[in-house]
Amino acid sequence: MVEIEKLQEKLGEALGLEIAAQKAVEELGSKGLLDKNGVITQLKKMQSQAGNHQSKLEEVVQNLADGSDELDPTKVQQVAQETAQKCSSMMQTYLGLDPDSSEAIEFLCLAEGGEVTHYEVLAAMSKKLNGKMKDINHY
Ligand SMILES: [Fe+2]
Repeated sequence: MVEIEKLQEKLGEALGLEIAAQKAVEELGSKGLLDKNGVITQLKKMQSQAGNHQSKLEEVVQNLADGSDELDPTKVQQVAQETAQKCSSMMQTYLGLDPDSSEAIEFLCLAEGGEVTHYEVLAAMSKKLNGKMKDINHY
């Protein structure tokens, strides 16, 4: 059996990272840090993907909550907000006061890597859930 608290935490973190990715593209884009070599077009795509990932995860959370009274969607949302907040402070630290465009892109790549890792953990957990958490892959 997967410990429900661990699952709530990991789902919340993955959700928070997706939310943070969308905000980060918005923020870095508006600072003009993503204008180089058409990279903004690609990152806008990534942003809308993150939006889809967010909806998919929210669906997974809802399905799990409907299937058992153990999983608490409010707790997942709470972890998501905390994670998004942490990610945003990490971004400020990483970029410093005078960020350039390559630092901005590097940060987005790091964040994307964090997402992938979380989905791997979730996929491993999902195997123990006997198919209750299908389609938990990042792409
Ligand atoms: Fe994603």
